[in-house]
Amino acid sequence: MPSKLNFNLTVNGQVHAVCVEPRRTLADVLRDDCRLTGTHLGCEHGVCGACTVLVDDKPVRSCLMFGVQAQGQAIRTVEGLADGDTLHPLQRAFWENHGLQCGFCTPGFLMLAAGALQEDPEMSDDEIKEVLSSNLCRCTGYQNIVKAVRLAARELRMKPRG
Ligand code: FES
Ligand code: FES
Repeated sequence: MPSKLNFNLTVNGQVHAVCVEPRRTLADVLRDDCRLTGTHLGCEHGVCGACTVLVDDKPVRSCLMFGVQAQGQAIRTVEGLADGDTLHPLQRAFWENHGLQCGFCTPGFLMLAAGALQEDPEMSDDEIKEVLSSNLCRCTGYQNIVKAVRLAARELRMKPRG
């Protein structure tokens, strides 16, 4: 059995040819092989959510998935959230409402919220809190993060959907 596998990963619309051991997590492949270090690693066992990315539009903890399992699926990382120089409404709302806080867990929160809002742009306040509670913040609290997601949700609802 070969110790490394060659396969392609589609990340933020770009194809990355990688050659990695099958045991490598998606998080490690994204960071070390695709050089997309915006995805952060905290606990590395599925608890903190810092490593959240979208796989076929669904938020996934990339430390719990092998890179090879993501073949053929559309991966979106925090690097793919902005549209060129134009920040995604979530990024802008985090910035404007001091939701960045420590910054380390922000990419995970952004991708979690992006996936959830894509699935249900009409999320209630309670639903937003429920979704965000799956990612850990231990620096200052969730209030600014919740506020930012609520405001971005409002903005996204007003946009025509493509
Ligand atoms: S690093 Fe993946 S859940 Fe914590
Ligand atoms: S925002 Fe990172 S721990 Fe609170």
